[in-house]
Amino acid sequence: FCAAVALGLAATPALAQGDGCDSGETVIKFSHVVAAQGHPKGEMAEALAKRVNEEMNGKACMQVFPNSQLYDDDKVMEALLLGDVQLAAPSLSKFGAYTAKLNLFDLPFLFTDMNAVDKFLKTPEAESLLTSMSDYGYIGLGYINNGLKQFSADKPLLVPSDAAGLKFRIQTSDVADAMIRALGANAQKLAFNEVYGALQTGVVDGQENSYTNIYTQKFFEVQDGITETNHQLLTYFIVTTQDFLDSLDDETREQFITILNETTDEYNQRSTELNEQAKQKIIDAGGVVRTLTDEQRQQWVDAMKPVWDQFSDKIGQDLIDAAVAAGQ
Ligand code: LMR
Repeated sequence: FCAAVALGLAATPALAQGDGCDSGETVIKFSHVVAAQGHPKGEMAEALAKRVNEEMNGKACMQVFPNSQLYDDDKVMEALLLGDVQLAAPSLSKFGAYTAKLNLFDLPFLFTDMNAVDKFLKTPEAESLLTSMSDYGYIGLGYINNGLKQFSADKPLLVPSDAAGLKFRIQTSDVADAMIRALGANAQKLAFNEVYGALQTGVVDGQENSYTNIYTQKFFEVQDGITETNHQLLTYFIVTTQDFLDSLDDETREQFITILNETTDEYNQRSTELNEQAKQKIIDAGGVVRTLTDEQRQQWVDAMKPVWDQFSDKIGQDLIDAAVAAGQ
């Protein structure tokens, strides 16, 4: 079953049309929502385009559209099936409509640090998730990591009861929704490019994100402060369609995938450093970062971890066990 076929959508051959690519080159448009610099995904996309354009000159040409310039993360999924773009990298929190298995990555306090994430992403279980949306025509080409998430709000948050009654922006994730409700708070799903405005105008009181997003989107400027909870992972699928992969000849496809894997590995090794730099830049710019005592942090764990029970059947206990084992 292929949704593109079911919907009667023909795969559009990606041919250059006076857009900086040479005629005859396969055009690979990569649309994403974050900053091009100071961000693991943004920098990875730029580096990937540079290598494709140098090493595959004459065969392929990549154009990157950062900062939700073309699409938000909902619309980009449709654009992929229509062949309007060939690559996107939404966070794993945004694929719940396609597969419940990817809810795994949203379970609060699943990973203690990024070493555990790296270890898990190399397991056969994580590898198998790359094809978990193939019924819809999508293929994951790999994982690109951002980092662990922190809370921010318009008042200091030190213990979960500080969050009670506040409204937090979340990604389109039912796990995040349950997790916020477990704090006695309210959750509102919003596209990434709407978050700054929603925080600024008080439509929401707080949000949760990685340091690189909090810094590059300037969320810290419209929040009281950030609390270093490290409560949840932010990682992306580099996603394309089976139709696009099938449209490439074997040699082109192999070369492209090799370059993509090498670039992804390189930026996954840099993601922690980029988040640490972003944290420091927030502090240097006058933002407030609050760290928790072990006892305070344990209160967040106790409040949010029970949501695992609501999702474990849908996700599959085997997957959860493999992820937990990676951290031990
Ligand atoms: C968000 O919506 O907060 C993130 O998924 C944005 C991103 O791509 O890092």
